[in-house]
Amino acid sequence: MQAAYEKVSVLVSGNAVVVFTISGCCMCHVVKQLLFGLGVGPTVVELDRCASGSDIHALLVRLSGGGGKPRQQVVPAVFVGGKFLGGIETVMACHINGTLVPLLKDAGALWL
Ligand SMILES: *[C@@H]1O[C@H](CO)[C@@H](O)[C@H](O)[C@H]1NC(C)=O
Repeated sequence: MQAAYEKVSVLVSGNAVVVFTISGCCMCHVVKQLLFGLGVGPTVVELDRCASGSDIHALLVRLSGGGGKPRQQVVPAVFVGGKFLGGIETVMACHINGTLVPLLKDAGALWL
């Protein structure tokens, strides 16, 4: 668990945008396409293809409010500027209310 925590904090502090996904997850694809469409190249971590994937999953469950959620319900998990932003609903809501792009600019993920 500690190792997963360190791995996640190194990843999210060293990359402007990090998306935790599992392969074949539809909403993960949607969130990646949204970011690509905005001109952001997120760092993508596929939990099912990553050595400490299940520990990272447990960590994401805690971040997203706990409650023993299965993998499909904690991904995609999006971090911007080293902070946990949220899942697909939060990212979409921020995109719609116009707060996503400023957030990405602040994080240095977008220059325009
Ligand atoms: C935009 O939506 C996000 C996610 O729901 C929310 O946290 C944020 O406060 C909203 N901002 C504005 C300006 O409405």
